[in-house]
Amino acid sequence: MKICVVGSINMDLVAVTDYRPAQGETVLGKDFIVNPGGKGANQAVSVARLGAEVFMLGCVGNDHYGINSIENFNNEKVNTEYIKRTDTNNTGIAHIVLANNDNSIIVIPGANNEVNEDYIDSVTHIISDSDIVLTQLEIPMDTVLYLSRICKKHNVPFLLNPAPAVCLPQEIIDNSTYITPNESEVKIIFQNEKNTDKLLRDYPNKLIVTLGDKGVVFCDGEKIVNIPSIKVPVVDTTGAGDTFNGSLAWAICKGMEIKSAIEFANIAAGLSITKIGAQKGMPTLKEVQEKWNGPL
Ligand code: RIB
Repeated sequence: MKICVVGSINMDLVAVTDYRPAQGETVLGKDFIVNPGGKGANQAVSVARLGAEVFMLGCVGNDHYGINSIENFNNEKVNTEYIKRTDTNNTGIAHIVLANNDNSIIVIPGANNEVNEDYIDSVTHIISDSDIVLTQLEIPMDTVLYLSRICKKHNVPFLLNPAPAVCLPQEIIDNSTYITPNESEVKIIFQNEKNTDKLLRDYPNKLIVTLGDKGVVFCDGEKIVNIPSIKVPVVDTTGAGDTFNGSLAWAICKGMEIKSAIEFANIAAGLSITKIGAQKGMPTLKEVQEKWNGPL
């Protein structure tokens, strides 16, 4: 199995506090942590933890955070051969406030904005040779559209995690094999239709909506199916969606049918929120197997 992630690479600057400051307010925090992150990077690491070959395609600055990000990928056994390094932008940053087990995030994309069509052209041989391609929306939308066309042309399944959400061009929706918003993102990406059940029925086995501790919903072609979440102590939900997407891609490539693949990914995402940091809690295959009763 060969999985390719085209997406963002950030350094997460996490302020841990009991109380999220309101506008114009200053509060004293409890801790400050610097973690590798970025939705693309996180998804690549979640795939690697499950033991698959994964290529990260993205861009970092020629700076300290860029070097740290590449080192982290190497430690996690993510292939970094084709990551672009640039002098014209700094590595992406995510400014995260973690309060009451939930986060608010501001992303400064920096070098992620250099994941452009020229770059995609330079790595098309990796994309076209993959069993599935994952992407998100922390790289330019034009690039996502271009990438979706390349995947369609080469018949490579295209998994789009539409986060952070914006209204999606219909062509991207049509070119995607799977689209995985959460419950607030689904209302933004399909701005003309607010009824989630109708959307699920319009896009069976394609639109997969994550609902946090309420599980995941999709339509199997006949009915809407709800896959419940596992109950775990919540420490940090940052990266749970990324773990879900990486694990879903892994399970689909493993040949699981869509319901089993969602169940598998949902367990992995549940396990990921038991440790602080987007990548720290991402489970290995063995750890998911301890909670997983389905076939592998
Ligand atoms: O999905 C979590 C990620 O979103 C963080 O790691 C942060 O970098 C932002 O991209």
